Amino acid sequence: MAARGLGLLTSLPLRAQRSQVQRPLRRLLSCPGTVVAPLGKEEQSSGSAETGSEDRTPKKRFSEVQKERREQAQRTVLIHCPNKISEKKFLKYLSQHGPVNSHFFYESFGLYAVVEFSQKESVASLQNVTRTPSLGTEAAIPFRSRYFNLKLKPPLNQTSEQSSIQCRNQSSSSKKLFELLCCAESVDDQLNTLLREFQLTEENSKLRYLTCSLIEDVAAAYFPGCTVRPFGSSVNSFGKLGCDLDMFLDLDEIENFSTHKASGNFLMEFQVKNVPSERIATQKILSVIGECLDHFGPGCVGVQKILNARCPLVRFSHQASGFQCDLTTNNRIALKSSELLYIYGALDSRVRALVFSIRCWARAHSLTSSIPGAWITNFSLTVMVIFFLQRRSPPILPTLDYLKTLADAEDKCIIEGHNCTFVRDFNRIKPSGNTETLELLLKEFFEYFGNFAFNKNSINIRQGREQNKPESSPLHIQNPFETSLNISKNVSQSQLQKFIDLARESAWILHQEDRDRLSPSNNQPWGLAALLLPSVANSTSLAKKKKKPASERIKNLLESIKSSSTENSTATNR
Ligand code: GTP
Ligand code: MG
Repeated sequence: MAARGLGLLTSLPLRAQRSQVQRPLRRLLSCPGTVVAPLGKEEQSSGSAETGSEDRTPKKRFSEVQKERREQAQRTVLIHCPNKISEKKFLKYLSQHGPVNSHFFYESFGLYAVVEFSQKESVASLQNVTRTPSLGTEAAIPFRSRYFNLKLKPPLNQTSEQSSIQCRNQSSSSKKLFELLCCAESVDDQLNTLLREFQLTEENSKLRYLTCSLIEDVAAAYFPGCTVRPFGSSVNSFGKLGCDLDMFLDLDEIENFSTHKASGNFLMEFQVKNVPSERIATQKILSVIGECLDHFGPGCVGVQKILNARCPLVRFSHQASGFQCDLTTNNRIALKSSELLYIYGALDSRVRALVFSIRCWARAHSLTSSIPGAWITNFSLTVMVIFFLQRRSPPILPTLDYLKTLADAEDKCIIEGHNCTFVRDFNRIKPSGNTETLELLLKEFFEYFGNFAFNKNSINIRQGREQNKPESSPLHIQNPFETSLNISKNVSQSQLQKFIDLARESAWILHQEDRDRLSPSNNQPWGLAALLLPSVANSTSLAKKKKKPASERIKNLLESIKSSSTENSTATNR
């Protein structure tokens, strides 16, 4: 069924590519504006797997989304296309292998297409007509993948049709964001705008699941029947465009599979091969997968094996998708944490908007970093926002213990001896009666943590109240499932202090704006935009107010906060 004039090459890791991890590529791909073609009709009408609509607040169960997306990814291929291509001919060619459900193009140092077939068999049919490139100077290692290179023979002449794939250039995203924020009607509108602009798009989510599925193909060479599952911000509904892709190699289902069938006298050799500890087993598995990705993984570059970390991992850049990937193994608890966060994000539309803003605020002030270190992580920040929302009156989010009481037999989940049970159907959780605005919540978040007794209290979303710190780390946030662990153990006193100082200053700016509301100064960033400026301390409005010494400013701030808190609590109690 090979079409004349079109040749698809199975993509191989080229030696020349390996040394360069192209950072800008990640940025480009991550931007919504780099998607260059309209979606297929079916896709437009069916909406996204998570939400069923353009509003990306989760509406389906986490497990349902995972299953749907995974199955969709298995019917999907990634194609590196020539820059000039006729979309119509391209689709016509592909549909010789079976109906195409949806497709989109994106640009990432070249033009790529993500094509979802209706049936899995179409992928095999397409693979059967691909060939392995012969480079003359280098030897090719054939690897059957779903990542192809499209070579046109002869190259198509430019026709009017080809202009149908237009690249919508992405303007500088932070500049655009500032413009949007400054044009917003209210602080609430600003928070929702930020969420809309930075949340993962439908295409970006699809590409994340596809990338995991492509990595699974490589890992399956060693462990047939394994699954590579995404977790973390790619799936917990708090992912910002450009965030890393956390994935883990799940070998549990292979074991389940063999337990069902293990009626005979034979045990597979790999299962009886003993190593001194679980950790060493993990390191060995990740070591071979790392080697495999490095040598044979199409599009995988800059592979690093970080096996001595607390949680051993393989880090690499998936060049075609532009994602920075972290592959771990046996990470079911992290997947469960992702599901819990997903549920919290689904319960109230204010949650995701607030988390996004706090994450962006922290990034803008270098409180978080993509490099591991003594900084606070996005995961910790998200847990802090959840805790804060549990502390409102009435609470906006329920405690984890309460979610556990709503669980039924099917929700029961014990992982490595840890009770990870909670209700998974969020329709069974009663919505909160709290009607506070995002503006108020943002201000109160900064106030709350600007004055939190970090020296003696621990943050605990299981019980939804502060507890005495069980150890002396500057910041103690209880791990929701492995309750004896602190998820922010890495945070130093100076980083915590920086967080507190910035939280206080941000609360102060918002309070000052409240007071100045009758005489707003035009052309000045306001509300969330003012808080996101690279340095709050350098902002013009603050510089004016900074004439007083710091201690006096903080004293004034605390006083103004105290008086307005009394006003607010009186107002909410009315
Ligand atoms: P970004 O990648 O920064 O956007 O956020 P993320 O939520 O994906 O965080 P990260 O990549 O650092 O970690 C991925 C996931 O691993 C998190 O969402 C958590 O589920 C889990 N995780 C991260 N840090 C910890 C930790 O200290 N303890 C535990 N138990 N899980 C963690
Ligand atoms: Mg992550």
